[in-house]
Amino acid sequence: MDSISALFSFLLGHLPGFVLLVLLAILTVVYIQDRSQVDQTIRRNYPIVGRFRYLFEELGVFFRQYFFALDREEMPFNRADRSWVYRAAKQESTLQAFGSTRVQREGDVVFANAVIPYTGESRKPTLTFGPHTANPYTTDRLFHISGMSFGAISRPAVAALAAGAKLAGVWINTGEGGASDGHLDSGADLVCQIGTAKYGVRDESGRLDEIKLKALADRQNVRMFEIKVSQGAKPGKGGILPADKVTPEIAKQRGIPEGEASISPPSHAEVSSAEELFEFIHTIRNITDKPTGFKICIGSMDDFRAVLEVLIRTAEAVATDNEGNLSSTLFEQHIIDYAPDFITIDSGNGGTGAAPMSLIDAAGMNIQESLPSVVNLLNSLGLRERIRVVASGKLITPVDVAWALCAGADCVTSARGYMFSLGCIQALQCHQNTCPTGITTHNRRLQRGLDPSTKALRVANYANEMHKELDTIAHSCGASCAAELSRKHAMIYIGSQRAVSMSQVYAGDLSHR
Ligand SMILES: Cc1cc2nc3c(=O)[nH]c(=O)nc-3n(C[C@H](O)[C@H](O)[C@H](O)COP(=O)(O)O)c2cc1C
Repeated sequence: MDSISALFSFLLGHLPGFVLLVLLAILTVVYIQDRSQVDQTIRRNYPIVGRFRYLFEELGVFFRQYFFALDREEMPFNRADRSWVYRAAKQESTLQAFGSTRVQREGDVVFANAVIPYTGESRKPTLTFGPHTANPYTTDRLFHISGMSFGAISRPAVAALAAGAKLAGVWINTGEGGASDGHLDSGADLVCQIGTAKYGVRDESGRLDEIKLKALADRQNVRMFEIKVSQGAKPGKGGILPADKVTPEIAKQRGIPEGEASISPPSHAEVSSAEELFEFIHTIRNITDKPTGFKICIGSMDDFRAVLEVLIRTAEAVATDNEGNLSSTLFEQHIIDYAPDFITIDSGNGGTGAAPMSLIDAAGMNIQESLPSVVNLLNSLGLRERIRVVASGKLITPVDVAWALCAGADCVTSARGYMFSLGCIQALQCHQNTCPTGITTHNRRLQRGLDPSTKALRVANYANEMHKELDTIAHSCGASCAAELSRKHAMIYIGSQRAVSMSQVYAGDLSHR
């Protein structure tokens, strides 16, 4: 009896220590599990505590009506849209139950489903850029990766995006930081951006180095060149890479001093007028022999119309002889030689690694306004066939992308949508080098969580699911594939209860503003 009670009191006396030991053992196992798994960046970077994110996310479903923001209220991207991307990227079901949580507001789109939907096989679209160049580029994809510089984003993020692009057959734009090894070696189709600082193709004085440009263009997977005129998040301001993010590797890639902020000028030294913009396009295309376009955030349609009219007027002047007769062949040839092969229209509410709040919040037209107006303008000037239109800016779900295709875009690009597919949680720290998901930081500890091969699959899944659901919308509207979507397939709410056809809403020339 004595020995039993002695054992009992021994156990009782040591119980706290024992429990602590078991707890420690469990925590160690959980720590090792979290650290070594590659599926969830947050758990890999923040073992054990990171699990609470997922627990709270699950609990949020039950408690958010009391404590948290509603599905459609988070900014810049609401939870409903982000969740769609996360689920698509993880190949989880993107189906939804019970009914829509979307409140119809003025300007929202609703697709015009056909009485008899399309039930055949999806047709594969063919989209060719620069048919008159020596190396036209053809793609059958409609949703590509928008420019994000190596520098703004990390090496593993570039690796994952580029490998994902290759898997899904979409292009990846290098951003103004230029084509890094991670881009070039991935084999993915690249659109090389030429920013105002000419990173990657600059000489010692910071001007365009034609030999470097030619060498880059000779790479087989470099498909097109995009001159950056402006970006929606900071129109009128050049790229900004805070000093913390200018590591030795990035300094070398850009040809700039290490540890000093990398600020590119607001405009290209070669371009101080519309005439010079078209000259510059012509020069880049001649050197590279590849389709060349430009990216712009439109500030005012009057301004933009004036720019395109210069192209037309110059073509008319070149094609008109002394007697005043206009040769249509010469006119066409001038348009072939000097017009951009594509224009990327970026939205005033586009994303960035770093920008002043005033420009992020309140500069540049949003894509909902600029895209239809630019398409109308190109039509009215007879340039729509010649110039491809790429749209970007908060177009991350099938509804957004299908809206843009209906409005007249040939295809869409996204930066932040693809960041979400990499695991971005919208922590809004891209400029601080502290991104908890390793995407916009050069801190090796935080980058460790981002496993490029796992995330490449997520990127590809997102792109594939997007294309699948775009076709679903098209089929519902009676079209055989998303590339066939046009204004007649969409209605736009002009109040909270009444929607009218997009053809009607964007009919006349909206381009005066
Ligand atoms: C981290 C980050 C870096 C970016 N870097 C560039 C860049 O180098 N060049 C550029 O033209 N746009 C850049 N952008 C803008 C995007 O390419 C895109 O135009 C914009 O974010 C709108 O697309 P989204 O709403 O899908 O993100 C960047 C955006 C982000 C979020």
